[in-house]
Amino acid sequence: MRKLLAAAAVALAALSAPAFAEGPKVKLLDVKFSFEGPFGTYDYKAVQRGFQVYKEVCAACHSLSLVAYRNLRDIGLSEAAVKAIAAEVQIRDLNDAGEMAERPGRPADRFRAPFANEAAARAANNGAYPPDLSLMVKARLDGARYLYSLMLGYEDYAKLTDAQKKELKLAADFKLQPNMQFNKYFPGFQIAMVKPLNDGQIAYNEEATTAGIKNDLPQLAKDLTHFLAWASEPKMEERKRTGVKAVIFLLILSGLFYAVKRKVWADVH
Ligand code: HEC
Repeated sequence: MRKLLAAAAVALAALSAPAFAEGPKVKLLDVKFSFEGPFGTYDYKAVQRGFQVYKEVCAACHSLSLVAYRNLRDIGLSEAAVKAIAAEVQIRDLNDAGEMAERPGRPADRFRAPFANEAAARAANNGAYPPDLSLMVKARLDGARYLYSLMLGYEDYAKLTDAQKKELKLAADFKLQPNMQFNKYFPGFQIAMVKPLNDGQIAYNEEATTAGIKNDLPQLAKDLTHFLAWASEPKMEERKRTGVKAVIFLLILSGLFYAVKRKVWADVH
């Protein structure tokens, strides 16, 4: 019986392990997020700062098509703020005469994509396509840590020492292609995205500054990751709470069943 159970456990583990064709080759940076673990929650101030980073930097190239402006209410922005953010963009839509026209965004609109379509996006990025970021944290193995590491992983390839190259196990015939950047954490080590974040690039508001939040690269990357983690799973906290409730329920139920079993079998023993 024990053997059977062990075999079943192994089979289950094998089945549930995600099958990724290619994982990152280099160990990702060690960074802790408040949303990790079975009881982890989002830090909504960090999510708000991360939204600012996305809006001011990444939104120039990457869409976030599964998020609507009204969803920003859930990260603690006021209705007026959400309306103002939506109204900043022009959305292409049918007007009253049935013609395509631009109008100011509304809270119900999805985030406006920076390019009309994939061809336009590629044309503007040397043929490379900046993917939608809505589910990026879920789409990559250890997504939050990967995204954070990717932001910090740029190196000047010309300045890499032989020891560093050896540590990365760079192929002897590795060549950085034109228009490509060297990034330690991107599979294949070269990415078509120019280093998007740098120290001090974003001016955080007074609330953040007085709370002692810096705007160096690690902090910007961490906040941005927090925001994209929220975007990829806005209902995470609800899911975890339901899980905890279910486990408590099952524990109580097990106790009840055990008591019933003892009662029913009391005369047999
Ligand atoms: C100037 C345009 C541009 C900006 C700004 C930009 N990116 Fe990119 N990004 C790209 C392009 C192009 C690619 C595709 C790279 C490739 O395929 O080699 C890419 C790819 C990515 C990927 C995919 C990596 C993978 O594993 O496939 C992520 C994640 C990403 N960008 C995140 C960001 C974040 C976060 C920001 C903002 C801090 C940002 N990008 C800003 C152009 C941009």
